[in-house]
Amino acid sequence: MNKKIVVAICGASGSIYGIRLLKALLKNPVNIYLVISNAGYKVLEHETGYSGESFSSFLKDKGITFNKNAYLYTHDQDDFFAPPASGSFRNDGMVIAPCSMKTLGAIAAGIADNLIHRAADVNLKEKRPLILLPRETPLNIIHLKNMYMAAKAGATIMPPSPSFYSNPKSISDLVDSVIARVLDCLKIEYDFIREWG
Ligand SMILES: Cc1cc2nc3c(=O)[nH]c(=O)nc-3n(C[C@H](O)[C@H](O)[C@H](O)COP(=O)(O)O)c2cc1C
Repeated sequence: MNKKIVVAICGASGSIYGIRLLKALLKNPVNIYLVISNAGYKVLEHETGYSGESFSSFLKDKGITFNKNAYLYTHDQDDFFAPPASGSFRNDGMVIAPCSMKTLGAIAAGIADNLIHRAADVNLKEKRPLILLPRETPLNIIHLKNMYMAAKAGATIMPPSPSFYSNPKSISDLVDSVIARVLDCLKIEYDFIREWG
């Protein structure tokens, strides 16, 4: 059976993390439920050249290939009728990459104001994996407290801080070093980075 993964892209800098995650996931037989916030679309346009086409076409134009048993479903941020809005939708985890401080704050406060917040809230209450890649620097005490609250509720806080011990040669290598750790958390195999040691 295909793994079901919820992926959200917020309006924090680093849309490339979300795209690279989708690239790695879609190589596998998976069902992806993708939600991009309104701000997420704006930052995507600014950082990646996305210009409003269907997201599948955009990914294909970026050279991303889909496994023949991979399915990508995209949902509007205001669609509370989408599967990830319900606790009865069994999934293997949700990743927010990148996660803005606004969305982190909403999750920490239990405010389910859009589908991303709601799906995260649902995964926490159902004790399913929720992985956040919060992006901001420096962090104020509110950001830190919100990360603490989300972690205490069961989220994995995974700041996108790339590693350098594998001698990266490009931005893509740096991004890969972060995404590999996300895939580890989701228990999804990959071949673009070797296990240390
Ligand atoms: C180019 C750009 C970069 C941004 N980078 C960040 C960021 O790194 N972290 C952050 O928390 N917000 C960032 N923001 C602000 C968020 O987009 C804004 O707070 C938005 O309301 C987040 O909404 P969302 O969580 O629904 O995506 C950025 C905005 C722009 C236009």
